[in-house]
Amino acid sequence: MHSSALLSAHVPSPLDAPVPVARPFMPAAEAILPYLQRIDAKRWYSNFGPLLIELEARLAARFARPTLACTAANGTQALTLALLALNAKPGGLCLMPAWTFVATAHAAIQAGLVPWFVDVDPVTGVLDADHVRERLAHAPGPVSAVIPVASFGRPLDPAPWARLREDTGLPVVIDAAASFDSVSAAPVPTMVSLHATKSLGVGEGGFIASEDPAFITRFRALTSFGFMGDREARFPANNAKLSEYTCAVGLAALDQWPSTRTAYAATAQRLRMALLHTPQVVFQPGWGPEWVSSTCVVELPAGSADAVEAALRAQGVDTRRWWGAGCHTSRAFASCPADPLPVTARLASATLGLPYFADMALDQVNRVGLSLAQALA
Ligand SMILES: Cc1ncc(COP(=O)(O)O)c(C=O)c1O
Repeated sequence: MHSSALLSAHVPSPLDAPVPVARPFMPAAEAILPYLQRIDAKRWYSNFGPLLIELEARLAARFARPTLACTAANGTQALTLALLALNAKPGGLCLMPAWTFVATAHAAIQAGLVPWFVDVDPVTGVLDADHVRERLAHAPGPVSAVIPVASFGRPLDPAPWARLREDTGLPVVIDAAASFDSVSAAPVPTMVSLHATKSLGVGEGGFIASEDPAFITRFRALTSFGFMGDREARFPANNAKLSEYTCAVGLAALDQWPSTRTAYAATAQRLRMALLHTPQVVFQPGWGPEWVSSTCVVELPAGSADAVEAALRAQGVDTRRWWGAGCHTSRAFASCPADPLPVTARLASATLGLPYFADMALDQVNRVGLSLAQALA
């Protein structure tokens, strides 16, 4: 069917039930039950039990090269503990994109660092390693670490970041919070969030992937009181372990990942079709056919996001400015150094999260498509 015929099948009305921006998709109770019964049988509830070991092994097996995965209580803590595990020098700057979620900056501060907000590349919307090299030469203070961010689940080539680490000796951690589906290599430590709103969710959780066993050993100890096989606290640490119950959800989510992924990809394809004749709406490259995430984030003409958001709201179509005006604009980070950020400002004025979830009905997809086409007309 021609997409405009598909769209005209439904004329949106504000009286229609609102289309939510997201509906997290987690395994149902019956899918988790066999894992819960394993916990009952074993009576091992936390502290690196068999379900956690299995979950981490299955997460690690998704990587192309030999890689280890170590879980933590959430993605934010995983980032903090990764910076600590890499001995990022306290008090120094942590270079990061301004175009990120506030968790990236919070994590750096919790690791004793000061966020330094740098602008992203105008084409890719993520940090460019060559630009970072140039900025490092003009840093407003001693730099302790670098955090590139894989925006909204997109794949991020880790190779330039591994080279930057080798050349500068700086600790680098990749924040790939929403990139569960697209992360396939971790030559530098890479964090993936397992929050309920992510494509593979456990509720609250996250993991660090790395090819470096010594780093993973230290990271693991940092999630567990600084213990390394005995009861001595080797260094100041945290308790950021995942319980077996959380791992039960994670294992059930992995079991159904192939069908979850197909559902996300099919819905993404339908949204793309519904907006085929609205070229002002630019999807993330490869989103849908090549990789999936749990959000649909599009770029609109610069400066138009406010008006489009209001027009969609009037039609009962919910949207979200996931990263607001940029991380640097939050009051918590007002005293942190920031470069001039024209690209971040443009992206903030143009980026909109549209309704998108794995089991989105065709009718809801069409309402989003038609309301957006009208808003941009
Ligand atoms: C870019 C980015 N970094 C870090 C996080 C933090 O992950 P978590 O919610 O698991 O702490 C998020 C969460 O959405 C994120 O989007």
